[in-house]
Amino acid sequence: MNLTKKLLIASAVSGLLATASVAGDMNLVKEGEKIFNTKKLGNCLACHAVNGKEINNPGSLGPKLQYLSSWPEKALYDKIYDPYSTNPISAMPPFGKNGWLSDHQIKALVAYLKTIK
Ligand code: HEC
Repeated sequence: MNLTKKLLIASAVSGLLATASVAGDMNLVKEGEKIFNTKKLGNCLACHAVNGKEINNPGSLGPKLQYLSSWPEKALYDKIYDPYSTNPISAMPPFGKNGWLSDHQIKALVAYLKTIK
């Protein structure tokens, strides 16, 4: 195997490690839940009910979040980063693209969303 190939494989492996599963990290899950429910951060609760928990908000625009544990982490990340990538007429703001939430904060949200059955 030549060096270029070795390097390619090495970077592919470290790439995998960098995106290693965020699910199951309880501190991250807690942090994500807080961001989800905090008005000045994600404020996701303004538009989304979670599981069976209903919200008393007539302005709730988003679907009730459920079964997200089966979503790939990347799909969840991309949805929060920029919902327009999958839905060009989405009413959900692009939290990552707008710079409202950091990469770390979005990963924490993903960890939390992965707990939603
Ligand atoms: C202004 C209202 C609004 C806010 C705030 C909002 N969303 Fe959304 N969200 C929507 C709407 C509307 C959709 C459905 C359209 C779409 O898929 O783009 C959606 C879809 C989603 C979906 C896909 C759900 C599915 O079953 O297809 C996820 C996941 C999601 N939002 C997560 C979040 C998270 C996490 C936050 C907070 C960082 C958030 N949303 C904040 C309105 C909102």
